Amino acid sequence: MKASAPGKIILFGEHAVVYGRPALAVPVTQIHADVEVLDAPRSGIWIDAPDINLHAELNTLPSDHPIASAIHNFLFISRLSPFPNLDIKIASSIPVASGLGSGAAVTVALVRGLSSHLKFPMSDEEVNSFAYEIEKLHHGTPSGIDNTVVTYAKPVYFVKGQPIEILRVAKPFTIVIGDTGISAPTKKSVGDVRKLWEADKAKWEVMFDQVADIAKKARAAIESGTSMDLGKLMNQNHALLQEMTVSSTRLDRLVSAARNAGALGAKLSGGGRGGNMIALVERDQAEDVARALKEAGAKNTIITVIA
Ligand code: MEV
Repeated sequence: MKASAPGKIILFGEHAVVYGRPALAVPVTQIHADVEVLDAPRSGIWIDAPDINLHAELNTLPSDHPIASAIHNFLFISRLSPFPNLDIKIASSIPVASGLGSGAAVTVALVRGLSSHLKFPMSDEEVNSFAYEIEKLHHGTPSGIDNTVVTYAKPVYFVKGQPIEILRVAKPFTIVIGDTGISAPTKKSVGDVRKLWEADKAKWEVMFDQVADIAKKARAAIESGTSMDLGKLMNQNHALLQEMTVSSTRLDRLVSAARNAGALGAKLSGGGRGGNMIALVERDQAEDVARALKEAGAKNTIITVIA
């Protein structure tokens, strides 16, 4: 049985979302994790994930390995006995530790593949909370936005612990994604922001409120189709992320390159420190901005239309 889950970008509100502020995220379907689950002719649960050079039987992996822990959790909740013999093939075009939701997408595709192959049906809500538990095991204190947007594969307005709200996009808009090529685990940047917050909660609460204000205005702009405002809001959000110390020289360089090439606005996206940035562009400028990002050192670019 085959299952797939998309990558994602955060448009607004990363980091502040961990502290209960709203954030906006959208799926990126050009990149995805794909999982195929088959009955195995040999005993055991065999995992084949060539992208991360993993070829192993489940029980030879440490139990806290992200893929192993997802399979163990699935076997636990589905109470299958005896354990089935399986071949699980995992492929992903989402770069790892780059803010594009690779971990969440692999977990979601994996649990969906297992649930349909083993005839243990799960609703989107169940898949989402399953993936959130796995995110918590590996990412410290995640807000749950990554697993949510990846599970529902729709633009979302997300507030931690609240029912998801699907964003209504009034007018499609174009985003260019630029990859610094630097992998940067979200757990580290989220942990560092937490240290800042713990050292001066009053200051950072004000900062997170400013991000919340930007996210709310962005939602209004998206739902009314005024993308000019969205660009300005991206620039403001990036400035606040810089203050949170989660930008980097390379991210800033790509953000400036995009703006100089005519983007309406640009910011880092996701955990930061490395990974990806995004730029809002008019459709006919997308190629120019993508080229400028490459010239400024982007390892890869993706043009995506949010509709
Ligand atoms: C990661 O995509 C977004 C962060 O806000 C972390 C989280 O919400 O869990 C940095």
